[in-house]
Amino acid sequence: MFIELKNAVKRYGKGETEVYALDHAKLSLEQGKICVILGPSGSGKSTLLNMLGGLDTLDEGELTVAGRKVAGLSQDKRTRYRKEDVGFVFQFYNLIPDLTVEENIEVVADISQQPLSMDEVLKALDIEKYRHRFPKELSGGQQQRVAIARAMIKNPKLLLCDELTGALDTRSSRQVLKFVEKMNRQFGTTILIITHNEAIADMADQVIRLRDGQVVESRNNEQKTAAENLAL
Ligand SMILES: Nc1ncnc2c1ncn2[C@@H]1O[C@H](COP(=O)(O)OP(=O)(O)O)[C@@H](O)[C@H]1O
Ligand SMILES: [Mg+2]
Repeated sequence: MFIELKNAVKRYGKGETEVYALDHAKLSLEQGKICVILGPSGSGKSTLLNMLGGLDTLDEGELTVAGRKVAGLSQDKRTRYRKEDVGFVFQFYNLIPDLTVEENIEVVADISQQPLSMDEVLKALDIEKYRHRFPKELSGGQQQRVAIARAMIKNPKLLLCDELTGALDTRSSRQVLKFVEKMNRQFGTTILIITHNEAIADMADQVIRLRDGQVVESRNNEQKTAAENLAL
């Protein structure tokens, strides 16, 4: 398995205010698949994604990604894992306002071991024509495509998307998801998408449902729906 998470526990707070953000959660995912993670607000989705991406550490449990034990890595090694192997896309694009599209992506390319080429990534996300624009000169959907390009230029093994369509209208959501799907096809990237929009699950190979920090459902889709045909 490409991702293997077992008995994952993450607690926040102490004593009476203690919360199990992850309560013995488990997950396994094959390489090159798209996995959609569903669950209500507060069910532990972001915590799960942050653990998978090495942004934070588990209190208990095991995590292996691409044969590498991620749980228990020293801080230095965990940072390296995150930098080299993981691309993140968040709800609010987090682009640097004073940099152009190209410069925003370049920042990540500069610290990557084996980046894809700028032209290839701009082309793949169909944002070549915006390369010299600033984020505020783009729509939300266009900015999110730049954020995906920035995550993809390092050619990550894992692309982690947390509510990436949460701030977008239906049309832009569908388009952004179409590009996510394309990244999976074109670069073979394993992709996890967090959402509370049930309809997005139809584009996944695997669907995981979280409740109260536990994985209460894990299933494979026999047939996937192309992102552009999702009933969003
Ligand atoms: N840094 C934190 N400090 C304290 N509690 C947190 C923190 N992060 C998450 N939690 C709590 O853990 C639970 C899961 O949160 P989260 O993973 O953000 O859920 P989701 O992304 O599904 O909305 C919630 O009860 C939340 O309040
Ligand atoms: Mg969240």
